[in-house]
Amino acid sequence: MAQTGITIEDLHLSFGDTDVLRGVDLDIRPGEFFAFLGPSGSGKSTLLRAIAGFGPRPRGRILIGGREVLDLAPWARNVGMVFQSYALWPHMSVRDNVAFGLRERRVPARQIRDRVDAALDLVGLGHLDERMPNQLSGGQQQRIALARTIVVEPEVLLLDEPLSNLDASLRVQMRRELLGLQRKLGLTTIFVTHDQEEANTTSDRMAVLDGGVIQQIGTPQELYDQPANLFVAGFLGTANIFEGRIETDGDGVRFHTRTGEVLTLPEAGGEGANLVLRPQNISMTLAPREGGLRGEVLHREFLGSQIRYLVRAAGTEIVVDQSHSAGRDWFETGAQVHLVVNTASAVVL
Ligand SMILES: Nc1ncnc2c1ncn2[C@@H]1O[C@H](COP(=O)(O)OP(=O)(O)OP(=O)(O)O)[C@@H](O)[C@H]1O
Ligand SMILES: [Mg+2]
Repeated sequence: MAQTGITIEDLHLSFGDTDVLRGVDLDIRPGEFFAFLGPSGSGKSTLLRAIAGFGPRPRGRILIGGREVLDLAPWARNVGMVFQSYALWPHMSVRDNVAFGLRERRVPARQIRDRVDAALDLVGLGHLDERMPNQLSGGQQQRIALARTIVVEPEVLLLDEPLSNLDASLRVQMRRELLGLQRKLGLTTIFVTHDQEEANTTSDRMAVLDGGVIQQIGTPQELYDQPANLFVAGFLGTANIFEGRIETDGDGVRFHTRTGEVLTLPEAGGEGANLVLRPQNISMTLAPREGGLRGEVLHREFLGSQIRYLVRAAGTEIVVDQSHSAGRDWFETGAQVHLVVNTASAVVL
């Protein structure tokens, strides 16, 4: 199958005088599973719809497979979009729902039958072809919506929170199926979600959006380990942010906390006055430790595999996760502790 990349250059879009996309640049590789991740209102759906050809005309450029598409109608762009609501036709059977796009394209009847059969088999629902949508579970409806989109053989698959109406365990199952299907078809896919776990587990790369601006693009691991700014750090998992001061001299790099304690860093690794540390990269002891920080346990939560502590240290409240195993003692609320920081994993922003 031919694979199609997507290029977006300096895209701006406004609703009235509200700027919703403010200069988006993006290169999505052929065959890539790409996620748009960001909080509600950050512009994810607007950007996806602009690629599909819905909504106000943006300024800038969108190229699909090297072809400029801003002046093309949605149907001429050869993209398939699955909307969050599924939007199945309630009065049509599963087969007719899936066949709809092919009939509109005046595909001969025998071909329609074969292609619908193939699309239903692909999503594992060939045996339900005579059912009506209201006789299907949410997960089955979602798969029919997908079958209906891929049956017209789009070059690009655009998915707007396609799993958001499913319960937690079905979501996990469906996201694996979706990824398997995407790999099998080799379809360039954009997946919109505000769920970081969903983006992490499915995407080859992702873009984090906030306020209509892409904050960072990279693999899930790159974004988690090397966030470009405090927004990305805080949006992808829990981040502890220590405010302070960086000092570099002949002896190396040191971070001075607001309370006057000093952490030695392996390298500067960035400019700024904030040290960002993940909860699992801090460990706690009761005995004093050289180069550690003093803290007081304010609260603790048992999470099963981990115990999550809220600790006051370095003039702020931080989260520390300690892995849990049976029989291991917990730190009590109110305990005076010493924190040992894995400075190799720290990011300065
Ligand atoms: N038709 C519209 N008219 C005016 N403003 C709109 C319209 N559609 C969206 N917006 C605004 O554009 C901004 C981005 O909306 P968008 O739907 O792209 O966000 P989103 O990131 O998809 O959020 P969510 O996670 O809630 O779906 C929001 O502030 C929203 O209020
Ligand atoms: Mg949306």
